[in-house]
Amino acid sequence: LIELKLSRFVDDIYYFDKVDSTNSFAKKLALEGAKEGTIILSNEQTGGRGRLGRVWISPPCSSISMSLILKPSIRPWDAAKITEITAAAVAIAIEKVTNLDVNIKWPNDIIIQNKKVCGILTEMGAELDNINYVIVGIGINVNIDEFPDEIKEVATSLKKVAGKEISRKEIVINIVREFEKLYYNFIETGSLKETVEICKRKSATLGKTVKIINKSETIIAEAVDINDEGELLVRKENGEIISVISGEVSVRGI
Ligand code: BTN
Repeated sequence: LIELKLSRFVDDIYYFDKVDSTNSFAKKLALEGAKEGTIILSNEQTGGRGRLGRVWISPPCSSISMSLILKPSIRPWDAAKITEITAAAVAIAIEKVTNLDVNIKWPNDIIIQNKKVCGILTEMGAELDNINYVIVGIGINVNIDEFPDEIKEVATSLKKVAGKEISRKEIVINIVREFEKLYYNFIETGSLKETVEICKRKSATLGKTVKIINKSETIIAEAVDINDEGELLVRKENGEIISVISGEVSVRGI
């Protein structure tokens, strides 16, 4: 992990053998004043959390559970962009280390051969229009051999597709490297250009029919593009094109 310290981004590293959830721990640290660039890693999580209140399994020695603490001066409604930056960084990092063909299911799942290998859970603390902190949680199935029956059909691991053990350390180091490039680019220029370019190139969503579920309605539409703001553009059945902001909706392939 010494190599992580060489990055401009990393401020402090917490490494656990076991923790309930790296995101929950990160949140506690952020509230206590931890700086941007603090990273929490755990060999195992006993209460890993997924999106929409789901459980995330993180068995010992075979998964990556990491959380980054960020303190960006952006508006709360721009926090969803950080999820996309993370997805792009993870996709590139996995490709660099494994040579596998990786796809991004907009906005925050990384899939290989149509099965999920990584999930991202972004959580923020904000007051009115100001962000206090953003926690980006990344969970990757690296060397997991068997999944529970409930998720067997939809989940896979890097080892399963690569046919060999993959170094968790190499993946983590590359994620930090790629993330810091894309993140500072966004923070310093306000542009998501590079991230969007990666998300489009690696998209498993574009060209597909998707179901967009938000609080008030469900829309069936075709995903046609990702705009410069990282929003998904979809064409509704009546031909109208609307933009979808990640974080507000759940997008499912049908
Ligand atoms: C999802 O796809 O539902 C998101 C999964 C996010 C899992 C990661 S593992 C590290 C961090 N700590 C957590 O409790 N969750 C995230």
